Amino acid sequence: MTNQENLPGNGADGNGALDLSGKHIVLGLSGGIACYKAAELCRALIKAGATVQVVMTEAAEQFITPVTMQALSGRPVYTSQWDSRPSGGMSNNMAHINLSREADAILIAPMSADFMAKLLHGRADDLLSLMCLARPIDKVPLLVAPAMNREMYAHPATQRNFVQLDADGATVLGVGSGFQACGETGDGRMLEPDQLLEDVIAFFAPKVLVGQRVLVTAGPTYEAIDPVRGITNLSSGKMGFAIARAAREAGADVTLVAGPVGLPTPRGITRIDVKSAQNMLEAVTERAQAATVFIATAAVADWRPAAPSTQKIKKDGSGQTPQLVFTENKDILATVAQSAAAQSGQLFCVGFAAESHDLVANAEAKRLRKKVPLLVGNIGPDTFGQDHNALLLIDERGSTELPRASKLSLARRLMREVADRMASRAPAKLKAGAP
Ligand code: CTP
Repeated sequence: MTNQENLPGNGADGNGALDLSGKHIVLGLSGGIACYKAAELCRALIKAGATVQVVMTEAAEQFITPVTMQALSGRPVYTSQWDSRPSGGMSNNMAHINLSREADAILIAPMSADFMAKLLHGRADDLLSLMCLARPIDKVPLLVAPAMNREMYAHPATQRNFVQLDADGATVLGVGSGFQACGETGDGRMLEPDQLLEDVIAFFAPKVLVGQRVLVTAGPTYEAIDPVRGITNLSSGKMGFAIARAAREAGADVTLVAGPVGLPTPRGITRIDVKSAQNMLEAVTERAQAATVFIATAAVADWRPAAPSTQKIKKDGSGQTPQLVFTENKDILATVAQSAAAQSGQLFCVGFAAESHDLVANAEAKRLRKKVPLLVGNIGPDTFGQDHNALLLIDERGSTELPRASKLSLARRLMREVADRMASRAPAKLKAGAP
């Protein structure tokens, strides 16, 4: 295994394929201070398995040199439409044609307000704009990462241009908010390289869950004993977060209800942080009605102290220990699975089972007890806190093994398995291809 495959969050599958293996990206830089982030983005794309061809405008060269981008991409950088070097394996002096023909996508990062205006008017007086205009629009997608001052971003002309750019078929990757190089604070910063990478990876993912609203629970819960102490468990939340990311990549609208974990929120999802099992139940109950898929990966505490103290419990030196009395937490998954939506098949419920032994028997018993169509079994001590896992899918047809791989790779495979099962449960007239 290479170092790249070991990167946290990398979706390397069991065969070592990386997230962008086989993808060729033309990375276009227009003029803006965010060009400094494009260097890191180039590295990130390459680390994720892509090959990258950099094209820069004259303005971009004011901010970062082609030397840097050549060193990072491992390929000569193109800056001029009059560049006569061979490009795309051709010697016809037509870099604006050849470079896009071999691309799986063109990514403009940063895209300045001026460059966007140029794209919208179909202007083509430099290599990058010329190449965008000359690209086969149905075959080579155009992704853009705007970067500009907050006033430029908010200007009606810019906002109008975003709408038109979208209508012209480009994918606008959004902007960040915060401190800007000009000293002002607001919207318009270019997204960070890791965020752009996540969006590019999501862009290429098969959209098997488009139109679905996926609700996911993740992480442990924390049950208070007193204001400073509590009971929790070793769940890291990584599997649930990977599932939320994979569901969004697959085109779903995703809400993640997370117990106390320090993980970054995957791009493009709604995250609700909760602490206790009761908080989690409330958050889930509120949102389950709007969901079409519920995936319970959280390691919910089975019990909570029946009467948590409102004040810190003090030791009085007598050697006496507090006598904790527990009460059982309501089973969130079983509660949702009993709802009318789940029973009628409108809401597809997926449970997880963290077992220490007899995985198949225990998981199947849990599936029947919780009345869910799909239960995903794993060996708890082998997975808690790890970046890798192995899963066993159990449904009415039997079991399917998903061999050890990164949690993200397993999550993606699981999304395909869920989509397949939902399609086969759908009434015949709703199935793809049915008249
Ligand atoms: N679960 C839940 N609410 C609970 C307990 C569990 O939603 N109060 C869900 C988990 O998110 C998981 C599934 O139920 O999807 C199974 O969790 P697990 O802890 O393995 O099973 P338990 O039902 O707690 O059974 P046991 O601990 O006895 O194995």
